[in-house]
Amino acid sequence: MIRLLLSVLLAATTLVSSDFEDGTPQGWAPRGTATLTVTAEAAHGGSSGLAVTGRTANWTGAALDVLPHMTKGEKYDLSVWVKGAGPLSLSLERRLAGTPAYQRLATAENPAAWTQLKATYTLVDDVDFLSVYVESSSGTADYVMDDFTLTHKPVPPIQTELTAVKDTVPFRMGAAIQRQQILGLEGQLLTKHFDSVTTGNQLKWDFTEPREGEFTFAAADELVDFGVANGMHVRGHTLAWHSQTPAWVFENATKEVLLARLERHIRAVMGRYVGKIDTWDVVNEVIDENQPDGLRRSPWFEITGLDYIRTAFRVAHEVDPTAKLVFNDYNTEYPNKREAMYKVVKQLLDEGVPITTVGHQLHVNIEAQPASAIEDTIERFADLPVDQQVTELDVSVYTDSTSSWESIPEEIIIEQGHRYKDIFDVLRRHAGKLSSVTVWGLADNDTWLSTFPITRLNAPLLFDDQLQAKPAYWGVVDPARLPPLVRKAQAPEGSPRIDGKRDLEWDKLPDISLPNGGFQLRWSQRGISLLATVQDATRDRNDAVTASVDGVPYVIKRTAKTVKPVEGGYRAEALLPVRFGELFELKIVDAATGAETVWLGKVTPVPAVGLATAKRGTPVVDGVREGLWGRKSQPTPVRVEGTSGATAQWSALWDAGKLYVVAAVTDPALSEEAANPWEEDSVEIFVDQGNDKAKSYDGDDAQYRISFTGALSGASPVASAAKRTATGYVVEAAFALAAPAEGALIGFDLQVNDATGASRTAVATWNDPTGQSYRDTSRWGVLRLVS
Ligand code: XIL
Repeated sequence: MIRLLLSVLLAATTLVSSDFEDGTPQGWAPRGTATLTVTAEAAHGGSSGLAVTGRTANWTGAALDVLPHMTKGEKYDLSVWVKGAGPLSLSLERRLAGTPAYQRLATAENPAAWTQLKATYTLVDDVDFLSVYVESSSGTADYVMDDFTLTHKPVPPIQTELTAVKDTVPFRMGAAIQRQQILGLEGQLLTKHFDSVTTGNQLKWDFTEPREGEFTFAAADELVDFGVANGMHVRGHTLAWHSQTPAWVFENATKEVLLARLERHIRAVMGRYVGKIDTWDVVNEVIDENQPDGLRRSPWFEITGLDYIRTAFRVAHEVDPTAKLVFNDYNTEYPNKREAMYKVVKQLLDEGVPITTVGHQLHVNIEAQPASAIEDTIERFADLPVDQQVTELDVSVYTDSTSSWESIPEEIIIEQGHRYKDIFDVLRRHAGKLSSVTVWGLADNDTWLSTFPITRLNAPLLFDDQLQAKPAYWGVVDPARLPPLVRKAQAPEGSPRIDGKRDLEWDKLPDISLPNGGFQLRWSQRGISLLATVQDATRDRNDAVTASVDGVPYVIKRTAKTVKPVEGGYRAEALLPVRFGELFELKIVDAATGAETVWLGKVTPVPAVGLATAKRGTPVVDGVREGLWGRKSQPTPVRVEGTSGATAQWSALWDAGKLYVVAAVTDPALSEEAANPWEEDSVEIFVDQGNDKAKSYDGDDAQYRISFTGALSGASPVASAAKRTATGYVVEAAFALAAPAEGALIGFDLQVNDATGASRTAVATWNDPTGQSYRDTSRWGVLRLVS
């Protein structure tokens, strides 16, 4: 009954619906100069629509007063169908006491055919005028519009029975906020779960000092005062950054002038909030691990070198000697960035620069970086005389910057919950080093990831867009409440001998790890092969491994013929007589204790893992394939981009400290015109001595790139050479190996980039079909070192 009542109350209500079917403009009126005519030609649905002609500026058109329909703090959906030449936008103008503000809610770049403009809008400001209208980006071309709707979707009450996140963690728990998050239900959710807030945008330079000496604090004051009034810690973000900083700051700036501007800015902004804001992100994103000195080439750096960082911390410390002063950056969970940041912070601390805190933004995704890399980062900084904070945590549901979902699958949202758990396991373990953890936003209804790096649906936070707790919340607060994780694994094609021995086929990949062992799968026409290694020192005839494929179980008892003892346990091998199934469950029973281990996941069949050999030998690295290389070579048969194009035949050799590769590329037209090295004609070589087949690079993974002229990018080979040939070119190079041994298996791939003029038109590899070799080692092939 209550549920029914709630769902009736929560149903969306249509506040305005303009279909123009009654032959009138239904309240739409000209904005500026324009002629509005209800005609049949302008109909999208039904038999009339609104034609807008005679416009005199891009902002003129048809407008509707929506002030009577909208209330501050509430969320609305708007939609309209438009057609016209050139980009059209659905825009909104609001005013308070005569001061206007404009916002484009949705834009269609090319509405030559009927196009729907859709937006969700939360009114967060006091207004005495509110109007929606359709305008052009430029020009005054006629347009037609029809079927406008304004609907209100009430947000359900927040879940007051939930445990507050802040009460379950041993550090301050923060959220980044804007105005919307301190109003209404969002304000309730914020104060219930968090004891710290960070201003999301309102203390950035473009907000606080848009013109020299002209300070505007209204927006920040409101957020800071809300935090203070609710007994929260307030973090100020941020004093020196290369982004969201007005152009005037760097205009005609000598070093002296720029440092003076910085000092004045910090004194004014920080000074205003002494006693209210206790932590400041003093510098933001100043590290660039691809520079030899690890420092970002921002105007700050170009003009002042390291001095802007020194000045920022000195002045901040003078203004408030008790404040935490943070050196903040993103991607610190990646080894190269981590090391670059460590070096710079250490140098500055050694000089006496008053950095008190290292901030890790931690904008991560559901896969990368693993929690262990986050742990490595926290441990790395532990020996410096600073504390640490997580300053901008969110977990994107995407692992790349191009995909997007219409609606996010529930299993991804569950996976995200487990990901939050893994991350908070690490953060709790290192609570002694962490003074606060902040998530970048309150709920999925308002996240910067809905427009960065592209516009797409994203859901990176602990609460959903209805402000209700997600699995992510449970992952932080009570992981026992998480639905089981459906993991992902791949089964390459392969037919190992089923005899309880671990043949080379199995050695090509690391086992999928289990708390008490590990396993792998292969597929072939005959069925699915399984190898499971189990640590279980107490031999019992009821010990068993049960593999279920789409719900059908196969039991392998420890007493079976294809089970062999290994130190501390046993190894079970089996051929499951099933065609490929999707959902795989592995259950291991330790009969002596009754303990069960379960792995549940979706398995994808993939092509066999390529295996090639490198013989022992030390060639001269000169771009010539001398006799020592032998006659055998390997192709690049896997098409990653394009349908035809350059390919290579390659071979590898090894000796005490190096791996050698020679690749003869067939490519008649060579170009180095592209701006990016990977878009030029070039060969990439991928080496992972540990062969750990991981979703992201670790310390021993490297990507080398050698263009047809011998230009290098990426990691540095020990030696390299390139030579043109009648049919293309040859590259040859030597790469460092740490104590290689005969029989070792190395993760390896080779990629040929084929350029046409200034763009890349084809890519071929030896093994990896994903196009992700540059950041993901899991689909590389395997190279075996032989004598
Ligand atoms: C983002 C804000 O959340 C957005 O609203 C704004 O449009 C762009 O900036 N790292 C930072 C933050 O340090 O300041 C950024 O915030 C997100 C990335």
